[in-house]
Amino acid sequence: MKDLFGHALLDYHNGNYTEDIITSTSISGEDELPLPYLFRDITDMPKLEKKALKLAKGSILDVGCGSGSHSLHLQKKGNTVKAIDISKGAIEVTKKRGVLNAEVKALLDETDTFNTILLLMNGTGIFQELSQVSKYLSHLKSLLKINGQILIDSSDIKYMYEDEDGGYWMDTNAGYYGELDYFLQYKGKKELPMKWLYLDINTLNLACETVGLKCELVFEGEHFDYLAKLTIK
Ligand SMILES: C[S@@+](CC[C@H](N)C(=O)[O-])C[C@H]1O[C@@H](n2cnc3c(N)ncnc32)[C@H](O)[C@@H]1O
Repeated sequence: MKDLFGHALLDYHNGNYTEDIITSTSISGEDELPLPYLFRDITDMPKLEKKALKLAKGSILDVGCGSGSHSLHLQKKGNTVKAIDISKGAIEVTKKRGVLNAEVKALLDETDTFNTILLLMNGTGIFQELSQVSKYLSHLKSLLKINGQILIDSSDIKYMYEDEDGGYWMDTNAGYYGELDYFLQYKGKKELPMKWLYLDINTLNLACETVGLKCELVFEGEHFDYLAKLTIK
């Protein structure tokens, strides 16, 4: 990983904001990811994220914290927060913004336990592909304190395969339709391709059942996005 995402966050934080990140996927063309959005405060967060932050309580793990926007809000409210991310640049920014406990760490390397685990901005993306969902969910379950909860968001992206006549063009012989290749560019440089998973709620629910987690839909956004709460059965 070249950590272009982290470089972009550092540029923005250091007052060197000149351009946005460009993303594309295996099923969609180029799109801008505005850097200011990655530094959003509570007033600019979507309702789904506000709901997740309201539900978060006790000791909190923010997985894939990015610039630390959610951690910062929760820390200001008095919660004990740990923020982790695989991006060095992201963690540097998270610390500079004032998050006291932030570490460069992959989710599967985390071993502490928490009352709430947050995975936001398509949290299921971190699982990368359907075949890895059970492994990640089992690990997340092992990080929960008694009565703990995992708050995770995603979208059912079936709509992206719909053609003008209302039919679907997806290849049913290919893998699960939410498994995408994700490409990122920043300042003319290309990041190594990543796998990024969108999970519909039914598939998430089924995967939860296989590892002994209960999956509840707690919020539905306006564009096929949702927030789920996972607890130990
Ligand atoms: C879409 S960004 C979301 C950032 C932040 N949560 C937000 O809402 O602004 C996803 C983040 O997850 C991080 N990430 C990806 N895989 C990860 C893993 N296995 N463990 C921890 N962080 C990961 C990426 O580096 C990136 O910062």
